[in-house]
This record gives sequence, C-alpha cells and structure tokens, in this order.
Amino acid sequence: MADTELKVSLASYQQRVNQIIESHIDALPNHAPRLKEAMKYCTVLGGKRIRPFLVYSIGEMLNVKLEQLDACAAAIECIHAYSLVHDDLPAMDDDDLRRGQPTVHIAYDEATAILVGDALQSLAFEALTHDDSGLSASQQLSMLKVLSKAAGYSGMCGGQAIDLASTNKRIDLDELSELHALKTGALISCAVELALIASDAEKNTKESLRTFAKKIGLAFQVQDDILDITSTTEELGKPQGSDTDANKSTFPSLLGLEQAKLTAEQLINDALSALADLPYNSKIIEDFAQYLVARRV
Ligand code: IPE
Ligand code: IPE
Ligand code: MG
Ligand code: MG
Ligand code: MG
Repeated sequence: MADTELKVSLASYQQRVNQIIESHIDALPNHAPRLKEAMKYCTVLGGKRIRPFLVYSIGEMLNVKLEQLDACAAAIECIHAYSLVHDDLPAMDDDDLRRGQPTVHIAYDEATAILVGDALQSLAFEALTHDDSGLSASQQLSMLKVLSKAAGYSGMCGGQAIDLASTNKRIDLDELSELHALKTGALISCAVELALIASDAEKNTKESLRTFAKKIGLAFQVQDDILDITSTTEELGKPQGSDTDANKSTFPSLLGLEQAKLTAEQLINDALSALADLPYNSKIIEDFAQYLVARRV
C-alpha cells in the first residue's frame, strides 16, 4: 500500500493536472458542446494519473519547476485518456465501464467516443506547444517528437494492434513482453522522457531513469493483467474478467497467476536497482514503483 507521503503527492499531482486539462478544455470554443462535455467526462473524472505523476515527480526530483511540467503532464494524460476511450469501444475490448462510470460510447455514443479520442489526441499536442508552457521551442520540439512516436504506430497504437491480433491465439513470452512494452510501456517511458527533456540531468541519470521506466512500465501492465483476475469490478471501476472473457494473451494466461506475480515483483526489483546510484533523492519514485504492483486498482 502507498505510504502517506506517496498518497499525498499522488493526490496533489492529480488535482494539479486535472485543473490544467480542464482549463484547456474550457478554453476551447463552444461549437460542439456535447463533444466538449464528453472530453471532460473521460479526462477529469476518476483514474490514477500515474503518467502525470511520473512527469511531475521525476521532473521535481531533477529540479525542474512544476510550471514547466504542467504541459507535459496534461499532454500525456490526454493521450492516455484517449487510448482508454478507444480501447473500450465495441470494435476493441467492448467494455462498458471505466473509472467507475459508463464508458464514453455508452454514456454518449460510439461516434462521440471516436471523436473524443481524436480530439484529445490533438489537444495533447496543442497543450505541449502552448505559449504559456514555460518551455523553450527546442524542448517543445523534442517533446512533440517523443510523444508522437510513443502514441502512434511505434508505441501505443502499434501495441494495441498486436494485442488485437494476439487475441484467441497463443503467443510466447517475448512476444507478449513486446506487446506490453508497446501498448503500455511506450507511454510510461514517454512520461519519464518528457521530464528528462525538461531537465538538465546528466547522461547517466537519464539512462538509469530510462531503465527504471522500462521496468515499471512492464510491471504495471503485468499487474493490470493480474488485477483482471484477482480484483473486483467494484474495486477496479472497469469490468473484472474482461481479458479472460475475450481470451486475451496476458501474463497470467501464459505463466499462471503465481508466476505472473513473481515476474511483476522481479521487474520492480530491477527498477529499484536502476535507481541505486542516482545522485538524487529517489524515495518517492521508489515508493511509487512498489505501489504499482501492490495496488488493487
Ligand atoms: C489502464 O491504465 C490501461 C493500461 C494501460 C493498463 P491505468 O490503470 O493507468 O488507468 P487509469 O488512468 O488509472 O484509469
Ligand atoms: C489497454 O490495455 C492499453 C491501452 C489503453 C493502450 P488494457 O485493455 O489491458 O487496459 P484496460 O484493462 O482495459 O484498462
Ligand atoms: Mg485492450
Ligand atoms: Mg481494455
Ligand atoms: Mg487490462
């Protein structure tokens, strides 16, 4: 379980990024009010904000001002929220509950859910290039590059495609790890990379944090797969058993539940080892790494 300090900072970063996202959506003109409302519905209600947490906590650890991290935190969360809205569509996982409420295609309609995803993706890039971002043009350009790559074919979308192609099929552990690295790991690594671009950290520090990100990214999705079996719909706020019902390739389906749990723990140990020589106080991200595999949601 998360200790108090971690809980407080998760809550405060969550509140901070919600305000930023809300202000970006509020600032949009009002010609499509239903779309705007649906964009808010799936971004600021519920959810853990673990990607903004990584941007803020790693950025702050590296002495970056919070104001210079707001745009990245909002941008990565908008991409993530869009990925969830599309992930839940009937053509994909066909789920009707997300973050404890009806998914966008249920609460609104399918066309709105598709457009919400599209509009949130664009909003992410708008947020990143906003004049008030406190970032230099060269930082913004580097951020655009890594975010667009992580969100698209080379990252999340590519991983989602492999996920769909691997349904009702047996794939091996390497293939599954690659799938997870793309569909989930890419955005988690990107959150860390955005903080690194905002910082002036040394090369070794950057490499250690990239290794940390890769390990927690995979551990996070392994735990997501585990929770699909061990948690409840009420706790999760999304339908428990969705992977099993759809005959998805997951870590527990390939390795069994116990071995999947051990894999997640080993990945977290590897993530912590990557931080060992970091010349910064990394306690908060160490606690966060442990929380990722202890969480029930
Ligand atoms: C769920 O992500 C989708 C995966 C990539 C496993 P999160 O567990 O971060 O979802 P929210 O944002 O907290 O709802
Ligand atoms: C979704 O993975 C990953 C993305 C949204 C890119 P899952 O399909 O396992 O996520 P949940 O379990 O529905 O949150
Ligand atoms: Mg899915
Ligand atoms: Mg899903
Ligand atoms: Mg899942």
